[in-house]
Amino acid sequence: MAVLEKANAASPAIPETIDVQLDLFDEIARLKRELNAVLLAHYYQNPDIQDIADFVGDSLQLSQQAAQTQADVIVFAGVHFMAETAKILNPTKQVLLPDLEAGCSLAESCPADKFAAFIAEHPGHVVVSYINCSAATKALSDIIVTSANAEKIVRQIPADQPIIFAPDRNLGAYIMKKLNRPMVLWPGECEVHVVFSEKKIVELKVRHPQALVIAHPECEERVLRHADHIGSTSSLLKYVEQSPAREFIVVTEPGIIHQMKKSCPDKEFYPAPAQNECGCSECSHMKKNTLEKIYLCMKNRAPEITLDEDLRQRALKPILRMLEMS
Ligand code: 13P
Ligand code: SF4
Repeated sequence: MAVLEKANAASPAIPETIDVQLDLFDEIARLKRELNAVLLAHYYQNPDIQDIADFVGDSLQLSQQAAQTQADVIVFAGVHFMAETAKILNPTKQVLLPDLEAGCSLAESCPADKFAAFIAEHPGHVVVSYINCSAATKALSDIIVTSANAEKIVRQIPADQPIIFAPDRNLGAYIMKKLNRPMVLWPGECEVHVVFSEKKIVELKVRHPQALVIAHPECEERVLRHADHIGSTSSLLKYVEQSPAREFIVVTEPGIIHQMKKSCPDKEFYPAPAQNECGCSECSHMKKNTLEKIYLCMKNRAPEITLDEDLRQRALKPILRMLEMS
């Protein structure tokens, strides 16, 4: 048997080889049937994973899918907080994450102990947390939001009610500006969205004067001010589908461009360059997932997300509030 790829090092029980003769698309489809599994994938996943998934979506759509699935096993092609949210919503189902190391800089920026101290320093505030955080941080929150519903949910909070918004200060600042409403911001940021180069975006606009700029609200204001449309990944996708424009400069993780090209094959998409030398803006956490790891996690039913029941119940309340208010 030939060696294709080393399996997840975090799971020593997993065999480390895959037969190169295997057709992974067929094998994953077979395992989906055998396990009665659903494969959920975020828009930032590699194209092959998006193509084999049962559902591809943004954070809100994926949590809504997780909340209503009839499957016994949820395979999450995304990052840890997304799979953990699926487990919070489905305590009796098995939730598999192909690589447990697939984290998120926003979730890591907001450890629960430090966040609890921050909340204690701001008594009387409603705690609104972006879904990109750990279960322990969710458990300290009153309402969870995603980039797709943050504005709608904050609008529903009485105007005289002070708010803490965590952990993404850029999304928080964007909502504050949009609603003309102050909030206390936790100073977290997405390591992918803060490295886009304003200079290179302006240069791209000069080269493609007809192109519209579409950006995710995790970007900084210096980039957002150039945007013709700002929204979650699903909102950016809908915008390019509905817009009469033919060219777009896409200021978010470039994985979403796969769906944009599928929906609008005759339109042009230019990924916005980052400030780093290669100009690349891929999320290294999202890209940890591969077809090989998806196959292995289904075959071995590991790595699996597990959660303490008391923590799960505390983290569930603000997620259910979000689903009600969305
Ligand atoms: P959405 O897909 O919800 O817009 O989120 C983007 C993101 O960064 C997920 O980690
Ligand atoms: Fe986290 Fe940013 Fe990666 Fe999304 S793109 S998973 S927010 S690091």
